[in-house]
Amino acid sequence: MSAPAISVRGLGKSFGRTPVLDDLEFAVQPGEIFALLGANGAGKTTTISILTTLQRPDAGTATVAGFDVAREPDAVRRRIALTGQSAAVDDMLTGLENLVMLGRLSGLKPRSARRRAVELLERFALTDAASRPVRTYSGGMRRRLDLALSFVVVPEVLFLDEPTTGVDPRSRRDLWDVIRSLAGAGTTVFLTTQYLEEADQLADRVALLDAGRVVATGTPAELKALVGTDTVVLTSPGGEVLREVPTDGSVASVRAAIDQLGADDEPGAELTLRRPTLDDVFLSLTGTASAATADTTKEYA
Ligand SMILES: Nc1ncnc2c1ncn2[C@@H]1O[C@H](COP(=O)(O)OP(=O)(O)O)[C@@H](O)[C@H]1O
Ligand SMILES: [Mg+2]
Repeated sequence: MSAPAISVRGLGKSFGRTPVLDDLEFAVQPGEIFALLGANGAGKTTTISILTTLQRPDAGTATVAGFDVAREPDAVRRRIALTGQSAAVDDMLTGLENLVMLGRLSGLKPRSARRRAVELLERFALTDAASRPVRTYSGGMRRRLDLALSFVVVPEVLFLDEPTTGVDPRSRRDLWDVIRSLAGAGTTVFLTTQYLEEADQLADRVALLDAGRVVATGTPAELKALVGTDTVVLTSPGGEVLREVPTDGSVASVRAAIDQLGADDEPGAELTLRRPTLDDVFLSLTGTASAATADTTKEYA
């Protein structure tokens, strides 16, 4: 097996006396799409900041593309790209000009820079806005331009911090396609997400982060197997959940659940099948309803 694209051992980070990351361990293989899945405040951005050399860890080590993030940050920076760098966008320039400029700064010849820019504008549904100054863009358009900028030069390892948060469903699917084709061409993709569905659709493997700890790592199928499967839910005509029964996903088990719910005794009630959600994952693996509600900011005396 080749050397991992990312290797994280015993990584820890505190802000003041508040531990934010505790003993993180995982490895990402070259060409893999790896998702760090966790609720708000779980420590996703902090992890990405350490792996992209923007912050230093307090404990443990991490390598990216074979280089130590703390001891060889320049070597790491030359091999990675990170999105969420809207600061790099020049508001006075058009979308096209921004992309061409970054391509030129990254060493592309004028013709290649332009070709790449046009291709990316098309990919991120910005062709119509290509010649407009970025200051006229909506929030969503800015976000797509920001993403497009991180694809100008194909890096060895691409970091995407919640790339689809606040992105409409169509753009989300487009972005998933771009990410898949990059990984198919050999780029390692490390992304963070709050969406179980995104990790499921996109990632080869997932690490589930809860309050600064990796509580599970595996393929989406392995993680889903950990949290059980579909739940049959009985709701009143007004949409209130009356009863629910978990199943193992088999037809027999769904049928038994429906019998158990006694749907026939509830006029007008509706039966629905609910897939496992991020909350189910947290419930099953951490015993709390959701990491989003966990108090990760309290002081540890
Ligand atoms: N610079 C900082 N100073 C103090 N606390 C921080 C700082 N950055 C992040 N935190 C805290 O660390 C925790 C994890 O934050 P973050 O990594 O941004 O989580 P996520 O990206 O998963 O939402 C949160 O409780 C957050 O408030
Ligand atoms: Mg974050």
